[in-house]
Amino acid sequence: MPGNIFGNIYRIMTFGESHGPMIGVVIDGIKPNVEINVSEIQKELDRRKPGQSAVTTQRKESDIVQIVSGIYEGKTTGTPICMIIKNEDYKSSDYENLKQIFRPGHGGYTFLKKYGIYDYRGGGRISGRETAVRVAAGAVAKQLLSNRGIKILAYTRQIGNIEIQNFNEELIEKNAIRCPDESATQKMIDLIEDAKKNGDSVGGIVEVKVQGLKAGYGEPVFDKLEADLAKALMSIGAVKGFEIGSGFKSALMKGSECNDQFIINPQTKEVETLTNNSGGVQGGISNGSEIIMRIAVKPTSSISKKQKSVTYNGEEVEIEIKGRHDPCICPRIVPVAEAMTALVLIDHILMQEQIQTEIDKLDELRSRIDLIDTQLLLLLNARNELVQRIGKIKKVNGSQIFDEEREKSLEENWIKTAKELELRPDYIQNIFKLVINESRKIQKEILK
Ligand SMILES: Cc1cc2nc3c(=O)[nH]c(=O)nc-3n(C[C@H](O)[C@H](O)[C@H](O)COP(=O)(O)O)c2cc1C
Repeated sequence: MPGNIFGNIYRIMTFGESHGPMIGVVIDGIKPNVEINVSEIQKELDRRKPGQSAVTTQRKESDIVQIVSGIYEGKTTGTPICMIIKNEDYKSSDYENLKQIFRPGHGGYTFLKKYGIYDYRGGGRISGRETAVRVAAGAVAKQLLSNRGIKILAYTRQIGNIEIQNFNEELIEKNAIRCPDESATQKMIDLIEDAKKNGDSVGGIVEVKVQGLKAGYGEPVFDKLEADLAKALMSIGAVKGFEIGSGFKSALMKGSECNDQFIINPQTKEVETLTNNSGGVQGGISNGSEIIMRIAVKPTSSISKKQKSVTYNGEEVEIEIKGRHDPCICPRIVPVAEAMTALVLIDHILMQEQIQTEIDKLDELRSRIDLIDTQLLLLLNARNELVQRIGKIKKVNGSQIFDEEREKSLEENWIKTAKELELRPDYIQNIFKLVINESRKIQKEILK
């Protein structure tokens, strides 16, 4: 089915539903013998797993990753990597009252329209649960990126109308909502708890930064880096907006304000920009600056407040959604956003490395031509030495330099062989003339 596979070279396919026995991912496209730290994969999953605090869903999942294939003794084998995570704490009974009713803001109505069948339990395939295995695949990608000096960092920038005013990276993993601003953190938590108490939910903005990506990654025109990043981040449930660099604010700027003017860094002598309104991508290709993106996360659709809906049979009803839901999805989207960013970046890097391999091939072919040219020159030199020796014999014998008959038969031989080798006769004839003229000159000198 389309839509379950992501990536071109580093390709992933996820499988599983929220209330099935397990969810999983298959990754293809990683070379053999790459060291993979499995505990790093688990660490990333622990960041996303549910039940971490009062401001996330209370579903308790240990989210222990099981490597089924593709990694042996801590190294990739070059075969597909399969990872699974068991679903342990699902309560399908919580969803019994939703069996025939569409959850407003969720995917039940559209799924049913598209497939004619829908696993309503926990949202089935469209549940945030599926993103756990994206995080596992992203954790492997992150390790490949880290080997190349690339770091991805996401955090909660805004919840409701409360936005960060300060940035301290160390704080991000130390609070329940992954906020880098101490003074904003409690206000954000209060807002979420308030919404939860009222049977409601809140949304926010997650910011993602990429450091260490050099210039030159991205595939114009359809697979521009920002286009692929937008697709990756917009594929996460509840994400309803994407911007890069100055994003929507660019529309309010003048060209003179928006352009990132180029300079040469006096220390590194590298090209840099004075500002970063492009967000690190120009013409769909990374320019070496930090990539900076923001995604808008909508308030969780499953709320216990009374809402209007309709049944599968077309009756209007009112529902209150039970079950354990995230009152705000932002803190749990942070590791998912990092993972999706990692998947895009590693894929683009591997695509670029393929182009570089072609360049390497060109160099190899050129050096083989250089070798042949040297051999040609050595052969011409050896020929000239023989011509000199013959000239000296001719001098002693008093013979003629020009031997028309011999030259004619030589030329005929050259042309015959050229034809056999499928070389153009006029090309070979021209070379023959040059060689014979040179021979005549050499012998003339000797016979002077
Ligand atoms: C990590 C994560 C956790 C989520 N938790 C919930 C949840 O508890 N309740 C809910 O209704 N939606 C949750 N969602 C959002 C739904 O998956 C999403 O809203 C739904 O699939 C409909 O898709 P859309 O909002 O992109 O249109 C979560 C999403 C993610 C990524």
